[in-house]
Amino acid sequence: MLVHQSFLVILGARLVLGGIGGAQVFYSHDAAFIGDQMQMDDDEAASVLFTAGPNDGLIGNPDMKTSRGFPSWSNKAFFIPASMSSSHQVGFKSKTLDSPNPDTDTSGFIFYGATALHLSADGTLHGLWYVLPTQSKKIWSLHWNATTGDKSDGHLSVTLRSVPPTKPF
Ligand SMILES: *[C@@H]1O[C@H](CO)[C@@H](O)[C@H](O)[C@H]1NC(C)=O
Repeated sequence: MLVHQSFLVILGARLVLGGIGGAQVFYSHDAAFIGDQMQMDDDEAASVLFTAGPNDGLIGNPDMKTSRGFPSWSNKAFFIPASMSSSHQVGFKSKTLDSPNPDTDTSGFIFYGATALHLSADGTLHGLWYVLPTQSKKIWSLHWNATTGDKSDGHLSVTLRSVPPTKPF
């Protein structure tokens, strides 16, 4: 159910990445990645179409056109790790399994213009997205709130936006 009508502007939009060529967010094994989902050895991998959910949540569904298989997942709640979590992985969880999980935060996604930010419980806005390289040169995994400024792990701060890429990845 859409309770935040103001978020209708992002209906059908894809969250895209600024900085490394405008790659789209895609889903694989409940984790969020950026880049070319066709390079992922996973028939469930697909670009994510986001719609507005309750409490400024974002609900993801597969963009069937972008998958090499027929993804069976649907209505996944986008999450970032909660501020006290030791994990940095950004991903998706089943919306129906709505048990409270202190390790993930599925609400409070705010768009400032086209830029996706997160509203903390203390009322502050953050855009702490970063990506890490994977074994594939065309795929990065999406993370939140790096503990270190040390770039030796290859991490790169990025901006998530709701506008489509201007050039193909
Ligand atoms: C980022 O992580 C630190 C712990 O490393 C935590 O204290 C802080 O609240 C987190 N910030 C956000 C916005 O989640």
